Amino acid sequence: MLLSVENITVRYGRLTALRNFSLTMEQGETLFVTGPNGAGKSTLLKSIAGVVAPVTGTIHFHEQDVGGQPPEGIARLGLSMVPEGRHVFGSLTIEENLILGAGMRRDKARMAENLASVYDLFPVLSERKDSHAGVLSGGQQQMLVIGRALMTEPQLIAIDEPSLGLAPKIIDQVYDTLTRLRDERGLSLLIVEQSTTRAVMAGGRMVMLRSGELVLEGDARELSKGDALNAAYFGFEEH
Ligand SMILES: Nc1ncnc2c1ncn2[C@@H]1O[C@H](COP(=O)(O)OP(=O)(O)OP(=O)(O)O)[C@@H](O)[C@H]1O
Ligand SMILES: [Mg+2]
Repeated sequence: MLLSVENITVRYGRLTALRNFSLTMEQGETLFVTGPNGAGKSTLLKSIAGVVAPVTGTIHFHEQDVGGQPPEGIARLGLSMVPEGRHVFGSLTIEENLILGAGMRRDKARMAENLASVYDLFPVLSERKDSHAGVLSGGQQQMLVIGRALMTEPQLIAIDEPSLGLAPKIIDQVYDTLTRLRDERGLSLLIVEQSTTRAVMAGGRMVMLRSGELVLEGDARELSKGDALNAAYFGFEEH
């Protein structure tokens, strides 16, 4: 088992953002986490990456209890998060942004290898490596933040709403890259999207959250055949 989240509850003050939530992932698997605004999707990723601390429950990565570990420690174990919002340092160059992704590591040879590997995946970043990141388009910024997450050589990438605000053609490119990472480099992907569209297109396992709770889990294509998807998403009663 690569990742195991067991019965976590996360609160922000009096608000319960995630209640008794569990999931597991195997190596090489792609899992979509979907659900409407405020469902707790980002909170789930932040918990897994060590950015917020659950009040109850456990999180294991590679059988190691990562609860209470700082984000850098979890990243070192091979779990890299791409937060929502595609935040890049606009006044730094593309290459400087990538180097920041490697954290405190000082191994120059490894750094060069990792950079080469990111440039191989995203030639557009290589061509513009000395440009300021602030001039990149939204799609290119998404590639940069994915590239930055790859600098720690992760086995699992947890990515929050990669398609938000991007044109459909650009979203296709982002997903092509994610698919390549899975197929060519064996990465496991935990992908958060509000909409179920991409999960259904890609196929495979999907979980849906609403108001901090798991409301649906199964094969995305199978679930899309009936009314269950919409019912769970909008909270309709099923008859
Ligand atoms: N730092 C915070 N302090 C207080 N409340 C928060 C904080 N972060 C999130 N929340 C609340 O927790 C709940 C879950 O938020 P979260 O961001 O995890 O949802 P989400 O599913 O990612 O939503 P979206 O699709 O809009 O990104 C929401 O009600 C939100 O307002
Ligand atoms: Mg979110």
